[in-house]
Amino acid sequence: MSASSAEGPSFAGRTVAVVGAASGIGRFCAIHLGSLGATVPCLDLDLGGAEETAARIRDGGGGAWAEATDVTEARSVAEAMAATVDSAGRIDGLLNTAGITGATNRSTHEVDPEDFDRVYRVNLRGSLLLTQAVLPHMLDLGYGRILHIASIAGKEGNAGMAAYSATKAGLIGLVKTMGKEYATTGVTINAMAPAVIQTPMVEALPQAQVDYMTEKIPMRRTGALQEVADLAAFALSPMCSFTTGFTFDLTGGRAVY
Ligand SMILES: NC(=O)c1ccc[n+]([C@@H]2O[C@H](COP(=O)([O-])OP(=O)(O)OC[C@H]3O[C@@H](n4cnc5c(N)ncnc54)[C@H](O)[C@@H]3O)[C@@H](O)[C@H]2O)c1
Repeated sequence: MSASSAEGPSFAGRTVAVVGAASGIGRFCAIHLGSLGATVPCLDLDLGGAEETAARIRDGGGGAWAEATDVTEARSVAEAMAATVDSAGRIDGLLNTAGITGATNRSTHEVDPEDFDRVYRVNLRGSLLLTQAVLPHMLDLGYGRILHIASIAGKEGNAGMAAYSATKAGLIGLVKTMGKEYATTGVTINAMAPAVIQTPMVEALPQAQVDYMTEKIPMRRTGALQEVADLAAFALSPMCSFTTGFTFDLTGGRAVY
């Protein structure tokens, strides 16, 4: 257990596994959860990146380690989760940020079905496998918080991103179903649908491109990583106790449903 040093709910005594922890949203959220007192197993295909995230959490006084995981492989997911539970002794939360866009700027008639399958295996099938791997432990515990990062693309559809939009929409549907199925167990299962978030990748874009991406956002700006982390911390905390199967919106007023 460790005391909270950042603003947000306390995760003292709780373990929250973050998948996709090597980069971007996953890394930022993992460090935030660590600062709130969570023990944070950092899972990713990119083991080096996950190790760096875990080291940063430990530098901040938190507990963390890295596990290599490929969410497209059932065995890899099962082994990583078993190792996580072995090391931590329990698993209270799962934050799944692993995701890929696949090819972009392709109209649907130009989509390569192989690319579609690749995106599906990470974004949708991977979300299913991860949930299946943690649920038995959470059901034993009688408590759990699962949060998958979907996207505004899953609500609105991004032209030129058929695979990404379809798999994120599928994830939103999967979460609705799972939320209902486990509603009486103490386990909540939710998603979050962000619009474009200010990651280093976005920071490197020309202003005109950023303006194009933000023109449909009523707040006329990108979202901040801290805003994702704050909403994720709530959804992964005991405070999120009467919301399940829901997709939290994080779009500056664009998708108000
Ligand atoms: N960045 C945005 O503006 C934005 C907006 C809406 C939704 N999202 C979603 O948020 C999530 C994180 O996005 P990001 O911008 O931080 O991306 P990112 O590319 O920085 O991070 C994604 C992480 O997922 C990992 N990953 C990819 N395939 C994997 C696999 N097969 N097994 C395990 N790990 C794998 C990568 O190694 C990487 O560390 C994604 O699901 C993305 O679709 C991002």
